Amino acid sequence: MEASSVNLQELDNTLLAPTYIKADMEFSHGEGSWLFTRQGEKVLDFVTGIAVNALGHGHKAVQNAIVEQSQKYLHLSNLYINEPQLSLAQELLKTNPNLGTGAKAFFANSGTEANEGAIKFARKYFDRQGQGQRQQIVTFVNSFHGRTFGALAATGQPALKQGFGTMPGDFVHLEWNDSETLRRTVNAETCAIMLEPIAAEGGILTPNPEFIATINELRQKHGCLVIVDEIQTGLGRCGAISGAHKYDLDHDISTWAKALGGGLPLGMILLRKKVAAQIKPGDHGTTFGGNPVSCAAGLAVLKTVNNSDFLANLTERSEQIQAGLQKLGEKYSWLGEIRGAGLLLGIRCTKPVGDLIAACRSEGLLAHRAGADILRLLPPLNVSENEVELALSKIDAACATMN
Ligand SMILES: Cc1ncc(COP(=O)(O)O)c(C=O)c1O
Repeated sequence: MEASSVNLQELDNTLLAPTYIKADMEFSHGEGSWLFTRQGEKVLDFVTGIAVNALGHGHKAVQNAIVEQSQKYLHLSNLYINEPQLSLAQELLKTNPNLGTGAKAFFANSGTEANEGAIKFARKYFDRQGQGQRQQIVTFVNSFHGRTFGALAATGQPALKQGFGTMPGDFVHLEWNDSETLRRTVNAETCAIMLEPIAAEGGILTPNPEFIATINELRQKHGCLVIVDEIQTGLGRCGAISGAHKYDLDHDISTWAKALGGGLPLGMILLRKKVAAQIKPGDHGTTFGGNPVSCAAGLAVLKTVNNSDFLANLTERSEQIQAGLQKLGEKYSWLGEIRGAGLLLGIRCTKPVGDLIAACRSEGLLAHRAGADILRLLPPLNVSENEVELALSKIDAACATMN
């Protein structure tokens, strides 16, 4: 299709199911922290495909890994050994020592699939031990775990479930950071507590130390599993490879996606040895999960991010953004609380956040929302000091148009 000769917006409306409200922008390509429109306009990308393009656009290590693997094989199926899966599993397991020795990986294609698998593995773990009645999964209000039925049932946002009929049962949603209710709810029948280290989509909610301590205590006391959804926080986004590690959250299962495939679809579940030991052939499976090209790309991302200099720069950029947002909060009374960690950051906005996002777009900056009233910034993890400064000045200019 000759892109310049057609109105892509119109075609999109005609051809695609209207599940998304799309920005009125059409991109031709990306480079580093920048996206270029078909009209040749340069836009700073602080959305990064919703925390997928961790190294920005066109990163050489990712590109090379994709080209190299695509010249070997694109797909084998999980009937055969797939070397890129093994390399990525080895590397990600190494960065998650708190899962204990003997932990194992299962590959999926996306975040929601990783969470489906995690829920299935958690229930199977008890079933295989003659405790099939232990099905209760405790999750949290405002959480987001995905759009397929199990992950949707786990998600603590009732609006997303409306009209889809009966959800899988035995999911309980408690208030975030409410240790008292958690203590009253979790018991010997609980299968798992499932949470994001930072509830990103729900408003960038960070856990308080008491909440973490309570989860650790209840896991110990009742022998329930803890499933940590690292899909958005993981691989450096929260300032560390693992949000669970960052917050000292003991756990048995973790789920990964988004940045994991370097821009290609990929999901992953890590299982503590005792959980993996209860899984048998045929318990779960996927045709595409652990695609070799996605795994090769993901390995390039993980190796790049898991480096002390890289993470030190990320922390500096995080501090720079937070200081900048603080100043903007002082300048504009309708901007307030700063939320998040690492490069998963946001600022509360009492004016319509959709208007601020549109104003940022007009200034040449892509930003996104979290929850009802948070402007969310998800820059590439290798964003430069100058780019951060520029983004802050663009937000300032966008705010000025809203005063
Ligand atoms: C924490 C978390 N879990 C799960 C998902 C679902 O991932 P996917 O869209 O790849 O299915 C998301 C997506 O935003 C997420 O942020």
